[in-house]
Parts: sequence; C-alpha cells; structure tokens
Amino acid sequence: MSAVEPSAGADLCLALETSCDETAAAVVSRSGHVRSSVVASQADFHARYGGVVPELAARRHLEAVLPVLESALREAGAGWSDLALVAVTRGPGLPAALLVGLAAAKAVAFGRGLPLVGVNHLAAHVYAHLLEVGGELPRPAVCLVVSGSHTDLCLLPEGGGLELLGTTLDDAAGEAFDKVARLLGLGYPGGPAIDRAAAGGDAAAVALPRSLQPLDARGRAGSGRFGGRWAFSFSGLKTAVATRLRAEPGIPAASMAASFQAAVVETLVARTLDAARAHGVRTVLVAGGVAANSALRAALAAVCAAAGLELRLPPLRYCTDNAAMVGAAGWAAWAAGGAAGWDLDADPNLPLAL
Ligand code: KG4
Ligand code: ZN
Repeated sequence: MSAVEPSAGADLCLALETSCDETAAAVVSRSGHVRSSVVASQADFHARYGGVVPELAARRHLEAVLPVLESALREAGAGWSDLALVAVTRGPGLPAALLVGLAAAKAVAFGRGLPLVGVNHLAAHVYAHLLEVGGELPRPAVCLVVSGSHTDLCLLPEGGGLELLGTTLDDAAGEAFDKVARLLGLGYPGGPAIDRAAAGGDAAAVALPRSLQPLDARGRAGSGRFGGRWAFSFSGLKTAVATRLRAEPGIPAASMAASFQAAVVETLVARTLDAARAHGVRTVLVAGGVAANSALRAALAAVCAAAGLELRLPPLRYCTDNAAMVGAAGWAAWAAGGAAGWDLDADPNLPLAL
C-alpha cells in the first residue's frame, strides 16, 4: 500500500483514461460532480487505418497525456492541493496504451504524495451513472455494458457485486458497428457513422438474421460454449451484411446501415428485457460507447416504459470513453479498498467486476 493520505479538506479526484484511442483526464468530486472532463480523441488519426493501431495509440497517448492532464486541472480551476486521489484505468484495454496512463498517474501520485487507485474500465462505464447525481448504483438491476470490445449483460444483485449473465461469443456490439461501417465505406469510428447514416435509411429494406434466437419453449439459446439464454453473437450478422453487399452492391448504404442497426438493437433490447423479467428487477442500466446509439436509446425507452421498468442511460458525453467515469469508479474503489500499491500493474484482459 502507498502510505499516503489525501490532505484535509481536499475532495477532488484526478482521473486518467488511456485504455484505447482516447487520452482523457478529468477532475471529479467525491459526490460525483464533474469539475472538468477533457477527451483528446485519436479517432481521426486511426481512421486512415480503418481502426485503432495499438502501438501508434500508445505513442499518441505519450504525446497527449500531460497536456490533457494540465487542461483538466486548469478547466477545473483546481490546484494540486485540492486533489485527494489519483485514479487510473488499469484494464481491460490495449497493453501499451494502458501503461502510459498508469505511468503518468503513478508519477503524479508519487510526486504529490497522493493515494492512487486502479480502475476497471468496464466498471467505470457503469459508474458513469453516478456522475453529476452521486449516490450508489441502483440494486437490484440489470446492466448492459456495450462497448467496442465488450457486450456484457449482468445482474447487479441487491447485496453488492456483479453476476455476469451473458456475453458475446464473438464480436462485441461496437466492433460489429465498426466493421459494418467499414464495409459500407462510412469510416471510423463506425458506431456514430452508422447511427447518422441509418437516420436516412429504411430499417426494413434488408432482411438480416437475428442471432441466437431462443431454441426451445423455455427461452434457451443454447448452452455451454454456445452461450446461454443471454449470450450474444454478432459475427454472423456482419457476414450477412458483407454477403448481401457483394450480391447487391446497389443497396443504399443508409438502408443497409438502418437494417443492420435494427438487428443489433433488437437483439440487445430483447435479451436485456428478458433478463430484467427473469430476475424480477425494476431497473435497467446501459453503459459503454454503444449506449450512445440513438436507436438503442429510443427502443429501450419504449420497451422499458411499456414493461414498467426504470431505464437509466448515462448522458451522451459519458457513454463513450472519458475520464470522468474513471473518477467516479475511482472514488468507489478508494472507499472499497483504499490505495493501491506502487506496483499497480496494467491488466489488459481484466473482466468486468464491481
Ligand atoms: O466505450 P467505448 O468508447 O470504447 C471502448 O471501451 O471500446 O466504445 C466505443 C465503441 C465503438 O465501437 C463505437 O463505434 C461505438 O462504441 N459507438 C457507437 C456509437 N457511438 C460510439 N455505436 C453505435 N452508435 C453510436 N452512436
Ligand atoms: Zn470504453
């Protein structure tokens, strides 16, 4: 453990996020108030390669991390003595990219005598729900975490912790958006591009498969390595889009985008609703970059309203990667376990845990 304690009266957390292609820093108060949230995206840089190039992402983080950190402090109007905690994403993510954030966070914490906590990036997406509102995560609840690398449907049981109900067997939802956008020539990142293109398309134009439909009357979608009732699969959908585009190159991109988006949204919404019903919860949370999708937000709002469920969606700016959510998760990690040691290491494959 680092033998440091925050200075009396200080109640701000400096948070860093460098797990993928956003270099982000934020200053977040103990109650979840966001004093600043600075995100330097590398998306335009990686767009020329059609996706994130890990080694280049790490180099860009190196260039950006200190200016971004300084901007976050300046925008927050905060000095070093106002800080009580340093939080940093330790995984999951790109190994070299994570190490840049960790090294910077350790240097700041050590140099300023501040406690350091390591944060699970996926948990941080869930903790984005506490930004600006504070309090605790609602329990019991079902939570869908949909990002570029994860599609995890989980239960937040009343007593604490997290139970993973289902995950993707192949591509993550965001990854499917990115790959289909590439097939359609819509650029990177694909999620926002498909979201925009779909607005002008016909979602019924192209018949696409819905994967892992229930196989029997009890709603099972297979078992063992083929997943369970709440598993997901998106690679077949992506292949179906590619096959249709080869067969019918004239299909308007907007209609293909809308049809693909409808298939993803239908699957995500159906599984989430089914999990909420099966576990008798009244609250549904959605987190991660794909939670910014307008069709997903609208469909969930409609379905949850009809089912009498409370739906909680983070504000758009806190859905995609940012450091404010790392600050919220950092305060929770601090309350739960205190400071990490200086040997805190990156874990590129860290699973979702709360
Ligand atoms: O959470 P996030 O910012 O980074 C990861 O942790 O992966 O999620 C990024 C993913 C990308 O795949 C991106 O295409 C997708 O979220 N995304 C969206 C939208 N905005 C971002 N997908 C669909 N619709 C959107 N509006
Ligand atoms: Zn993320």
